[in-house]
Amino acid sequence: MILPINAERPTRILHITDCHLGAKSGETLLGLNVEASFVDVLEHALVREETPDLILVTGDIAGHASAEAYERFSYHVEKAFPNVPYVCVPGNHDTPSLMASAFPESALPRSVELGDWLIVLLDSTIPNCEHGNLCDAELDFLQQALADNRDKHIIVCMHHQPMAVGCDWIDQYQVASADRFKALVAEAGNVEVVLWGHIHQVFESVIDGVQYMASPSTCIQFKPNSVDFALDRKMPGYRWFELAGEGQFGTRVERISERNYPIDYSSNGY
Ligand SMILES: [Fe+2]
Repeated sequence: MILPINAERPTRILHITDCHLGAKSGETLLGLNVEASFVDVLEHALVREETPDLILVTGDIAGHASAEAYERFSYHVEKAFPNVPYVCVPGNHDTPSLMASAFPESALPRSVELGDWLIVLLDSTIPNCEHGNLCDAELDFLQQALADNRDKHIIVCMHHQPMAVGCDWIDQYQVASADRFKALVAEAGNVEVVLWGHIHQVFESVIDGVQYMASPSTCIQFKPNSVDFALDRKMPGYRWFELAGEGQFGTRVERISERNYPIDYSSNGY
């Protein structure tokens, strides 16, 4: 997919992830109405930000995959940001075939070209499994995309974390063998960002000049550096990118203002 850019200004990307929407309106996750918090996050971005050029979604759009959850996602995104394209990768709670039926084809590209930037979208899911994996076909695709786009600045996206983030309970589900992935990224020399969801928290680390990062969920937040499952009291949010020439970019995380969501913070799992 090639999207037109405005060369007079940076290209704006709204990154949202892990919405966990249900089949029915008003479904909750640990007490939180996930549709309400999702709409709150979209509204926050709508009010605070310039119109994005692209909305990038890194999986777990549905909590329990259903056509209705994906239709509700599209409805709210298109209502808040009409005419802004959105692109998605699946998460472990998603079903790719249902996503393909519910979303327009334009929402599931393998890559998005934005001027001299290229976003590569990888599927890190294994059917009916919580943990992640980048199979040979996905890594072959990445290798070819990198070889074909040496003149671009690259953002690689997936759902699962390709490295430990410091939360033992969720690090057991990280991409099973990320060695070849990390080697491809390091060798390429033009990957600027590796971006994922899944961990429901902010994470940022620089490895060999590549920024590895994750963003908050639009619903519940997991507490950083937890051995066992623990919720964080931080509010739902999103990540914002501004991409400029020569691989320069800015990114920041924004969260909605404090709300009194009835979240069960004492829960030891979900
Ligand atoms: Fe999730």
